Amino acid sequence: MVFRLAGEDDVPAIRRISLALGQAEEDSGSDAEYVQFLLATGTVMVAETASGSSVIAWGAVKQSRGRSMLTDLFVDPDHQARGVGAGLLRRLWPNGPQEPARFTFSSRHPAALPIYARAGLAPSWPLLYMSGDRRSLAGPDGSAHLEVRQVDAGSAAAADMRLASAGRADVADVADIAGLAADYRWWGRGRLLSGLIVLDGARPVAAGVATRSGLAHLTCPDERNAAPAVIAALLALDAPEVSLCLPGPHPAVRDLLEAGFRIDDYDISMSTPDVSLASTWVYSPGLG
Ligand SMILES: CC(C)(COP(=O)(O)OP(=O)(O)OC[C@H]1O[C@@H](n2cnc3c(N)ncnc32)[C@H](O)[C@@H]1OP(=O)(O)O)[C@@H](O)C(=O)NCCC(=O)NCCS
Repeated sequence: MVFRLAGEDDVPAIRRISLALGQAEEDSGSDAEYVQFLLATGTVMVAETASGSSVIAWGAVKQSRGRSMLTDLFVDPDHQARGVGAGLLRRLWPNGPQEPARFTFSSRHPAALPIYARAGLAPSWPLLYMSGDRRSLAGPDGSAHLEVRQVDAGSAAAADMRLASAGRADVADVADIAGLAADYRWWGRGRLLSGLIVLDGARPVAAGVATRSGLAHLTCPDERNAAPAVIAALLALDAPEVSLCLPGPHPAVRDLLEAGFRIDDYDISMSTPDVSLASTWVYSPGLG
């Protein structure tokens, strides 16, 4: 087995592996633009057979707000359960299980959580993939005091960073801000004003980004406004059928279920002990 950095030439093999694992959607390894985004902004590696004739696994890590996020780890179905996934993970995170500041959203594949646990990550809440008709949220919802302003991705990323770093000593550095703005532009690609800032009067309480069919991310440190901000942001989207991923303990989960939203799937958030992922935010399972 050979583990090496991936390049443009590996995009077709990454697509083949992803399709074999049923990953056909945008923002997965079958989406060449997604892989190119990871190649440009993160570290992408592949495993290939010793003869070098075939790529059998791929994975990627990326900086997210000063932490290292594992965005993807996929092993060809014919080569699973032989140590390839764990081996690739050890190359992507080479400093051992004590290395701080790492997280991922683990799939429920039986081999996924064990290899992340051995890499020093502990599970916390489920990240619920939810979808539904946003028009069912149009009734009284407690979000009437909030206004949603649609802005460009860079402005929303800057507002997000201010909200996320408020009250923290480790205020984000320039690299964090540039990285977050790149993620926002990626999520909002193809849309002119994809950024969202949710205001309570003049005060921003949440910032995030819309995709063509949902909410990719929403930072909202304020527990009281967490559910109203999600509902206000969903109501501001164009498409009637929308999707988003919410932490199990997020206060909006019950409101959305009551409005007829479904839980289509879930991942498990996992992180090193020093990382506490806020349960009042909306997350992208791939990019945080
Ligand atoms: C999850 C995945 C990346 C793991 O890679 P892999 O090469 O199959 O796994 P490995 O052989 O390296 O390691 C699996 C480990 O989990 C252990 N394991 C498997 N099932 C287990 C279970 N039910 N309980 C405890 N441990 C278990 C194995 O024993 C093995 O550990 P060992 O080598 O010490 O015996 C791969 O199976 C895969 O691509 N799955 C489908 C896609 C997916 O869900 N990817 C994860 C995205 S977050």
